[in-house]
Amino acid sequence: MKSLRFRKSSTLSRLDPAKPIQINGEKVILREKRVSDARDDYNWQKDPELSRLDSAPQLTISFPLYLLEYTEIIKDFGPGRFPLAIDTFDGRHIGNCTCYDINEFKREAQIGIMVGDRDYWNSGYGTDAIKTILDYLFLKTDLRRAYLKTLDWNLRAQACFKKCGFSACGHISSNGSHFIVMDLTRRQWEKRKDGAKNE
Ligand SMILES: CC(C)(COP(=O)(O)OP(=O)(O)OC[C@H]1O[C@@H](n2cnc3c(N)ncnc32)[C@H](O)[C@@H]1OP(=O)(O)O)[C@@H](O)C(=O)NCCC(=O)NCCS
Repeated sequence: MKSLRFRKSSTLSRLDPAKPIQINGEKVILREKRVSDARDDYNWQKDPELSRLDSAPQLTISFPLYLLEYTEIIKDFGPGRFPLAIDTFDGRHIGNCTCYDINEFKREAQIGIMVGDRDYWNSGYGTDAIKTILDYLFLKTDLRRAYLKTLDWNLRAQACFKKCGFSACGHISSNGSHFIVMDLTRRQWEKRKDGAKNE
C-alpha cells in the first residue's frame, strides 16, 4: 500500500494489498482479498448476529450490487488500510483480518477481525490470525503500537485479544454502545516473543 509509511521503507511495497501476499500462521494463512471472497463477505455482513458483535450496520443491498462495488473497492482499498482474508490451511475462507486507521506519524494502527464462519469459533483461529498479523507488522514495519476496540460485552473477543497480548487501555462510547480499547506496544510484543523463546 503506497500510503503506508512506517519508517522501515523496505516494507512499503510488501504492505501493498494489491500484491499477492501470503502470511502463514500456525492454523491460518492470511492472504490478499479476492473477488471470489465477495459471497462470504456479503453473507457475513448480512448476518444480524455478526453485525451486532462487530457493531457494524447490517447490509441491506442485493448481492449483484454488492459485487459491483466490491469489484471496484478490491482494486484499491484506499490509504491506510491493509485488509487480509483468513484461510484455513485447506483453503477455506473463514474470515478477515484488517490493519487500518494507520497513523504514520504516531506509528499506530488499529486491528480488526471477524471470523465469519461459526464452525471456526473458539478453536484458536482468531488468536492465530491476530498473532500472525501482529508478527508481520512488528517485524516488517516499525509500527510502535497496535490497538483495537471491542464491545464491552463481547467477552470472547476480549479473551482472544488478551491471549494475543493486548490489554485494556481505555473505554469509549459511541451511539449508545460501549467499547473497550485494548492495545499492544512494540516493547510488549518483543517481551512476549523473548519470553516464548526462553520457555
Ligand atoms: C472474536 C473472534 C475473532 C475470536 O476468534 P476465535 O477463533 O473464536 O477465538 P479463540 O478461540 O482464538 O479465543 C477465544 C477465547 O475466548 C474464550 N471464550 C469464548 N466465549 C467466552 C465468553 N463468553 N467469556 C469469556 N471467554 C470466552 C474461549 O474459551 C477462548 O479462550 P481459550 O482458548 O483460553 O479457551 C471470533 O469469535 C469472531 O470473529 N466472532 C464474531 C465477530 C466478533 O466478535 N468480532 C470481534 C469484533 S471486535
